[in-house]
Amino acid sequence: MSDYILGIESSCDDTSAAVIKDGFLMSNVIASQQVHKDYGGVVPELASRAHEQNIVPVVSQALDKAGIKPTDLTAIAFTRGPGLLGSLLVGTSFAKALGVALNIPIIMVNHLQGHILADFIKQPDKENRHPSFPYLCLLVSGGNSQIVRVDNPLDYEILGQTIDDAVGEAFDKCSKMMGLGYPGGPIIDKLAKSGDPDRFQFAKPQIPGLDYSFSGVKTSLLYFVRDQLKEEPDFMEKNKEDICASFQKTLIDILLSKLIKAAKQTGIREITIGGGVSANSGLRNRIEEEGRNRGWNTYLPEFKFTTDNAAMIAIAGYFHYLHGERTPLDVAPVSRIADF
Ligand code: KG4
Repeated sequence: MSDYILGIESSCDDTSAAVIKDGFLMSNVIASQQVHKDYGGVVPELASRAHEQNIVPVVSQALDKAGIKPTDLTAIAFTRGPGLLGSLLVGTSFAKALGVALNIPIIMVNHLQGHILADFIKQPDKENRHPSFPYLCLLVSGGNSQIVRVDNPLDYEILGQTIDDAVGEAFDKCSKMMGLGYPGGPIIDKLAKSGDPDRFQFAKPQIPGLDYSFSGVKTSLLYFVRDQLKEEPDFMEKNKEDICASFQKTLIDILLSKLIKAAKQTGIREITIGGGVSANSGLRNRIEEEGRNRGWNTYLPEFKFTTDNAAMIAIAGYFHYLHGERTPLDVAPVSRIADF
């Protein structure tokens, strides 16, 4: 008999539900919330309310697209954290209620594990290329910048992480500061494509070991733009492509310097990236280029699996399910998770 896992993701501002059948993706529905656009960032209270409105239709659509009834489900995987507590509560409570109603197990998933395992989502009629264990994942999103060693789908070690801002935060905050809009990552990525990455230099942190820091480069850009605007009021407008290209290159240099160090230290050559910032075209090109030069096998997630989605929660939940894990009904969501 086949295993059908329903995945539910509601950690931030995307309400998503997906169905996988024996590891193969049958449906992946995402309702992205537009309500935050006017605020330049996610408003937690509005996000929770939107999840509450979206969750039933999104899950119904995911089941319809997969061509199954609720009673066909084997288990329900849901994001327990990290994320916005009010948002997580909606997905967690829904998973519990549906689990009780159908008398099937629920399985909690760490959102970050979902990003790290995204390469394992198999799709019908498509070749699945995924890393072999152990591998290193550069996990880069709006809330995280980590290098994670993955020994098997249930065994992780954080080798390095940011001591202040996440790299996605640096993209978003700097975009806002330059008046370019939100979310900053895709906007900077697009402008950077027609700019000169070597025209401007920004400060790079000197942090020991494999940890990251992105607050200094953010401040460096802030002072640079402020000083230039004093001299030339339309400096930003005239140079935004070059500023974005140079800023993006600085962030990528910082990310790669520690990833290269981690690969050397561990001797691991299987390299993946995950999280929202893994959609960045400059980062993707650079990972492939370094991979060719250094003899790495590199794996880039499909764009649709880089941002928050329930397919990755379902596949992570499936691994836990196969391992015999079941989550008790008194589980509570958590906004922060220190380790995996
Ligand atoms: O993983 P994600 O969807 O949400 C969490 O943080 O959990 O990541 C969102 C982040 C935002 O900071 C956004 O600006 C960034 O991913 N992002 C990008 C790109 N697309 C999304 N950053 C750089 N380049 C992109 N193309």
